[in-house]
Amino acid sequence: MSKNPYQSDDIQLLRLSTAGSVDDGKSTLIGRLLHDCQAIYEDQFQAVQKASKKKGNGEIDLALLLDGLSAEREQGITIDVAYRYFSTPKRKFIIADSPGHEQYTRNMVTGASTANLALILVDARKGILTQSKRHLFIASLLGIPHILIAINKMDLVDYKEDKFEEIKKDFLKFSEKLDIKDLQFTPISALKGDMVVNRQENLTWYDGPTILSYLENVQTISDKNLIDFRFPIQYVMRPNQDFRGYAGKIASGTIKKGEPVMIIPSGVETKIKSLYWDEKEVDEVATPMSAIITLEDEIDASRGDMIVRTNNLPIASNDFEAMVCWFDTTSMKKDHRYILKQTTNSTSAFVTKLNYRININTLHREKEADTLELNEIGRLSIHTQHPIFFDTYKKNKQTGSFILIDEATNNTIAAGVIIDKGKKTSFIHGDKELTSQKGAALWLTGLSGSGKSTIANHLYKRLKERGLECEQLDGDVMREHLCQGLGFSKEDRDINLDRASFVAGLLSKHGILTLASFISPYESQRAKLRKNIPNFIEVFINTPLKICEERDVKGLYKKARAGEIKSFTGISDPYEAPENPELEIKTPETSIDKAVEIIINYLLDNGYLGNTNRMR
Ligand code: ADX
Repeated sequence: MSKNPYQSDDIQLLRLSTAGSVDDGKSTLIGRLLHDCQAIYEDQFQAVQKASKKKGNGEIDLALLLDGLSAEREQGITIDVAYRYFSTPKRKFIIADSPGHEQYTRNMVTGASTANLALILVDARKGILTQSKRHLFIASLLGIPHILIAINKMDLVDYKEDKFEEIKKDFLKFSEKLDIKDLQFTPISALKGDMVVNRQENLTWYDGPTILSYLENVQTISDKNLIDFRFPIQYVMRPNQDFRGYAGKIASGTIKKGEPVMIIPSGVETKIKSLYWDEKEVDEVATPMSAIITLEDEIDASRGDMIVRTNNLPIASNDFEAMVCWFDTTSMKKDHRYILKQTTNSTSAFVTKLNYRININTLHREKEADTLELNEIGRLSIHTQHPIFFDTYKKNKQTGSFILIDEATNNTIAAGVIIDKGKKTSFIHGDKELTSQKGAALWLTGLSGSGKSTIANHLYKRLKERGLECEQLDGDVMREHLCQGLGFSKEDRDINLDRASFVAGLLSKHGILTLASFISPYESQRAKLRKNIPNFIEVFINTPLKICEERDVKGLYKKARAGEIKSFTGISDPYEAPENPELEIKTPETSIDKAVEIIINYLLDNGYLGNTNRMR
């Protein structure tokens, strides 16, 4: 292979996105940059040519530079983002310039999607505006590494340093809550040419770099993900009977000839037979090349499938959580069918929940919000009809982002970045799909004071820490609510446990790990529980009566011995010890931690926690 794929192609190239309100002087600034740099106009096309070559596909294609837009373009959506190219002897620049009119989040997001740097323009007379805040928020959401705030029209505030400092302070305060790596401020007058390309005489108190000098020197460490190999198949090439190649753009990572790979969603495993790039056979390919892959085995893969490394799989799920910018004048509708496009995949999708809307001025999370309107941003739970294969956006910008399209109008109505997997997640491994957890009812039976609730409380905490869905049912609590008024005769205990059984059954059926702590003293009743509750797991907390009586946490044993409480289990009413419980935990010789561990291991070994939760 002639070229080392690990070498960054973009060192010389800086992609910046600009945005601002209508009158903040953005066009003037861009004009000023272009003008004062000179020689740009001739250079423009050349820069594009060079940039295309650098991309490494061996083709010169303007559209290539707009790859952030391809999904929208396929949809035939007009995006108001102008791309300008210019260069200086030090560097080449692509400016994605989005106007600040009404549908500005769409333009901002589109322009910023591939940017190394976001340039935010502020009018020194007006200071920080909602739109500047929104741009800053979007830039941080999209993980743009550098943000340059140009405080413009300094000539109209007499080039006053305190004006600059005041605005800078406002921005710094606002950005405290955001995840921004590098935030710079430059006072300028685009109109007069101060601090854009030339320093001039009016801002002598400012000793930082000019806009151009900053743009020329800012370090753009490549944020390419070279670890996780993700190859979304774009199309299948079958020029003849003997050749079956998969064409696409490597979203992230690198791969070599002979490496074991898996096709998802089928889970079929095979090896890389050959790799083609730039019309030549090569031994290795890397992101962001467009390549053709052939596989050792005849496999029926098609567009929308993904080739990944066998031991490094993306998340496969119908459910995930995302931060979403709403682009459309029609507001977001819950449970409405949208089309979700992610990599080369598309599927029907539904917003199942708006977790919160971001108040862009305060950055507060508005949990009571029930929709998103044009330009608003919120955290959504999304359910897709078919599973999609993704990584979080933090890990992988390509597989971690998506757009939503309105079926009726074909408009791109929203764009999102995936924050996390949603609840009902499953992972694909081999040809098996493994759910992350199964519902079950862990029925802790034993004498009063045996330690049932204590163990259940600790267990509950540990399961929650693993992100599992669980719920507790407890004799004492149930008797205060659902079973109020019931006593301790055999009939009443049976009714008590019938009700508990009904609730536990529902929870277990719906995938919840249910921890039920009831004395449940009679074998006949426990047999009934076993029959009625799906995934019933009997856990006998075996503590000698003597010890329970010594503990006597609630003072009930004493009362029972004194005859003040009738039919007290163990004293004046029988406890029929389970003969074949799934688990028996003897206390006090088994510590609480040990008991919890025994139960968790049982759940793991029996697949209740899924193969995705193997850590112990
Ligand atoms: S069960 O027998 O119907 O399963 P459950 O677990 O709901 O009993 O309630 C037991 C709790 O009720 C005990 O922990 C104790 O605090 C209290 N209690 C009050 N009277 C009795 C009694 N006669 N026998 C057992 N527990 C009693």
